[in-house]
Amino acid sequence: MEYYEDIVKKRNSCRGFSSRKVEDSVLTELLTYYEDDESDLVDEIETELKFYIGTVWDELKKSVGYNGFCIKAPAYMVIYSDVADHYLENAGYIAQGLTLKMTELGLSACWQTINDADEAKKALGEDTDKVVACVVAFGYRDPDNDEKKAPKKSLDEMTDGFRFGQDIDTDLWYSELEDGLRAIAHAQSFQNLQPYRIIVDNDQISLVGLPDDMTSEADRLLNYGIVMFNFYAVMWAVRPTAPRWSFEPVTDRDLGLPEGVTYVAKCAL
Ligand SMILES: Cc1cc2nc3c(=O)[nH]c(=O)nc-3n(C[C@H](O)[C@H](O)[C@H](O)COP(=O)(O)O)c2cc1C
Repeated sequence: MEYYEDIVKKRNSCRGFSSRKVEDSVLTELLTYYEDDESDLVDEIETELKFYIGTVWDELKKSVGYNGFCIKAPAYMVIYSDVADHYLENAGYIAQGLTLKMTELGLSACWQTINDADEAKKALGEDTDKVVACVVAFGYRDPDNDEKKAPKKSLDEMTDGFRFGQDIDTDLWYSELEDGLRAIAHAQSFQNLQPYRIIVDNDQISLVGLPDDMTSEADRLLNYGIVMFNFYAVMWAVRPTAPRWSFEPVTDRDLGLPEGVTYVAKCAL
């Protein structure tokens, strides 16, 4: 399967679901993917995946969703996580793997911003030490819902060469790398703001965060996890070894980051 063309490029958020129930067999498939195949960013962080079918919207909408508006869906997926360094990037990465698995299974989804994680946990009736890290509404798209994918930054806008702000000759890219970078440019983000960029070097790419007053700290970190998963998944689909992101600082070169732009992570090519 052409992972980029068939899955990443095809996915778009859904805000109008049909009432069709998500079958138990489909939930089992998602759970099996999470338990057996799912990759994460930080192995040591314990997470838990739970599904909520049908009944939680009335309570959940008090703490989840843009401007207090939680998308009504037949099902919700929640990633609970221990709190540790990079736990939100890790949870975002895991949830993105599941979101793309949903696309593969014919489901549609929409990430929901978490306005109050403690309240969300109470609304879901959970008594756990872990925190609510991601909420994703999902189900089958209403056939009358013709919602389109939001316009995304071009590859040129999303990438620099060697140093921040420097042009790069994209003819030098091999096709798998280009697809991996396009997968980053296609990723979903809070309000589609895409406040990040990729600096491409011969042997590694670096993800950097752009200044942005709109996106909360939590959603910024979830955004990063999402783009890291998209790149990983597209490259892994065509390569014998899985690319691995690292939060270690870049010390062997100058990325030329201006004030306000922050280094996030790097991935060897
Ligand atoms: C961290 C995060 C939080 C989001 N929160 C919401 C939300 O609360 N409500 C909503 O309708 N969409 C939400 N979205 C979906 C984005 O608005 C959507 O991904 C973006 O507009 C791009 O559109 P696309 O997913 O169709 O490519 C969220 C996305 C992310 C990554």
